[in-house]
Amino acid sequence: MIELKTPEEIKKMRAGNLIVAEILSRIQEEAKPGVTTADLERLAEKLLAKKRAVSAFKNYQGYPSTLCTSVNEGVIHGIPSKRVLKEGDILSVDFGVFYRGYYGDAAISIPIGSVSDEAQRLLDTAEEALYQAIDKARVGNRLSDISAAIQSYVEQRGFSVVRDFVGHGIGRKLHEEPQIPNFGPPGMGVRLKAGMVLAIEPMINAGKSEVTILSDGWSAVTKDRSLSAHFEHSVAITENGPFILSKP
Ligand code: MF3
Ligand code: CO
Repeated sequence: MIELKTPEEIKKMRAGNLIVAEILSRIQEEAKPGVTTADLERLAEKLLAKKRAVSAFKNYQGYPSTLCTSVNEGVIHGIPSKRVLKEGDILSVDFGVFYRGYYGDAAISIPIGSVSDEAQRLLDTAEEALYQAIDKARVGNRLSDISAAIQSYVEQRGFSVVRDFVGHGIGRKLHEEPQIPNFGPPGMGVRLKAGMVLAIEPMINAGKSEVTILSDGWSAVTKDRSLSAHFEHSVAITENGPFILSKP
């Protein structure tokens, strides 16, 4: 069952998601050549400690960190480490909090210094795919209109969409119904209603769509080791259109 949220609940979720957005933007500022992903994890923990919020990911099904930091061929769930970021890398950072009884969740992909034209195009495509999808998050549309918008935009630009991970409903739990694939035909699935809150999260690859999990049991990387990018927002569906909770 899809849990519909009241306007009061959406207000609380807005507050948590603004914390997510603020900390992600600080991480974006600090993500430069020479910095390690563990440095970014420490920064996130330090900033989070000043808030009345806790990490949504740390200890979730045994996940060890507050951030997911996925570099280059990293798709999602990369564990912060001593890896030093270098000029030309791309870094996906996924971050969520639990605040006032509700979860917030968002992700960005960041160019480290100056990156290749292909890498920049991949980042731009992933971000724009997210916004194309959010524009479908409207009362009366169907769930798969969101999925189809992502797939068609991404494939039109010559990239592929990851199949093995999906977006999700979010609220009192990090992962609620419905699952939101980033691919599929339009016009299918449930009709979207005011009060649904969806974490929409396209993961796209420069090469093929297949992913593999590394021996740490978490890090998902592209099977062909091509570059990957990920953007995510938590979005409330309202009578007045999509409300991007994780965008200031
Ligand atoms: N944004 C991802 C998700 O919604 C992050 C989960 S990381 C985990 O599934 F560690 F918590 F699994
Ligand atoms: Co998510």
